[in-house]
Amino acid sequence: MTTFDPQPSRRILLAGAGALGFSGLAGGAQAAQAAPLVNPVVRQRADAQVFKHADGYYYLTGSVPEYDRLVVRRSRTLAGLSTAQEAVIWRRPTEGKLGGYIWAPELHWLDGAWHMYFAAGDKGQPFRIRTYVLRCEGRNALTGTWSLLGEVQTPWDSFNLDSTIFHHKGVRWFCWAQKEPGIETNSNLYLAPLATPLTLGRPPVRLTVPTLDWEVRGFKVAEAPAVLIRNGRVFIAYSASATDDRYCLGLLTADADADLMAQGSWTKSPAPVFVSSSETGVWGPGHNSFTVDEQGRDVLVFHGRDYKVIKGNPLFDPNRHTRVQRLYYKPDGTPDFGVPAGAGEIPDRFSPLGRPGAFLRVDGEAVGVGGGALATTQLRQKAGAGGAVILEPILRPGHGLKVEGGVVAIGPGDKATAFKRVKGLAGKGVSFQAPGGGYLTHRDGAVVVGPARDVGARKAATFLVS
Ligand code: AHR
Repeated sequence: MTTFDPQPSRRILLAGAGALGFSGLAGGAQAAQAAPLVNPVVRQRADAQVFKHADGYYYLTGSVPEYDRLVVRRSRTLAGLSTAQEAVIWRRPTEGKLGGYIWAPELHWLDGAWHMYFAAGDKGQPFRIRTYVLRCEGRNALTGTWSLLGEVQTPWDSFNLDSTIFHHKGVRWFCWAQKEPGIETNSNLYLAPLATPLTLGRPPVRLTVPTLDWEVRGFKVAEAPAVLIRNGRVFIAYSASATDDRYCLGLLTADADADLMAQGSWTKSPAPVFVSSSETGVWGPGHNSFTVDEQGRDVLVFHGRDYKVIKGNPLFDPNRHTRVQRLYYKPDGTPDFGVPAGAGEIPDRFSPLGRPGAFLRVDGEAVGVGGGALATTQLRQKAGAGGAVILEPILRPGHGLKVEGGVVAIGPGDKATAFKRVKGLAGKGVSFQAPGGGYLTHRDGAVVVGPARDVGARKAATFLVS
């Protein structure tokens, strides 16, 4: 029986609305579209799966701190997930099987019905974790009637969790984490075709065992696979180590035309691709999923905490919040995860018109235009007074671009320049007008503010946002 939790915290929206001068609270999709996408998107929802379904809704499900129920929310916009009503579609029984911890759900539309895959322990043995599936009678996942379809059958009766499903070249694939008898790890990753919602089409291939130092910190873990198929490759991001600040993402890669069931088709990133950041204040980033924003741009979804030091068992610290940021790619077509972006509006990149591959960038005290590490080119447009924006580098939270004598530098927030964002002077993108009337622009790699009286100047003062 579906119930709806009381309205989730509107702290985020109020903060956003106040800053942006919105009156009242965003209730419907229309108002929600005006709300900025602000991290954390949803507090205390770990292991979040966010995806855009064919019905046009974004769906979100994830682990709740109590590990006692399955919840789903949906919105026409990513930002709307922050305030969307949350349906409780199932609660664990008070006794017996599935009465233990309820972890890492994923919602999938299979064979014309919603299916919820999740990991569950038993009452009295809460860590006897196995993977189960609920099936929904009805097309609305939030209000339909859910019932237990059964337990997913894997080759071993052992700890298994964090399953995901993806489709590639006509095959419905099942990827999950499991402890394999004879291998002294907490979990490894496995892959097999899915024959029915509960059965595999053939014995699985073992994709990876945690052996590298960044995979075995606290616990020997490879879990939470998330699949992205782009640029002729199949990428599987996965999470490693203990769920504290050492939690991080690794990446498996196979050619999209390869035999995915051959271990040799897969290569593992030698280093983690996404780790805690003291600069941005995000710790233990992981258990990710992938989606696209309203413009079709790739988005990384993950959880992370705002603090490094945890009291007690990290698994029972409730503050793994759902966060999102755009996902970019390196010149070779592999995803560039960068760093977890931190609290506030999600950042953008600003490329001067006519300078593809160059971006507005802040590296320490240096403000310039060029290439370099992704994180140095990501700035958030913080809402300032009267609709103006402060351009805040994600690696310098609390700071912003400031104009002094026509030169642009970095300074503390209260000294930062509030720019008026306008339609790009060259007819596309955006431009930023300083209080004195000049525009943010660049000359010989330096970032300055100046007039934009001719075509060339207007072009130099125009930035394409990505
Ligand atoms: O959040 C509960 C469990 O903790 C998730 O299933 C797993 O990915 C993590 O280790």
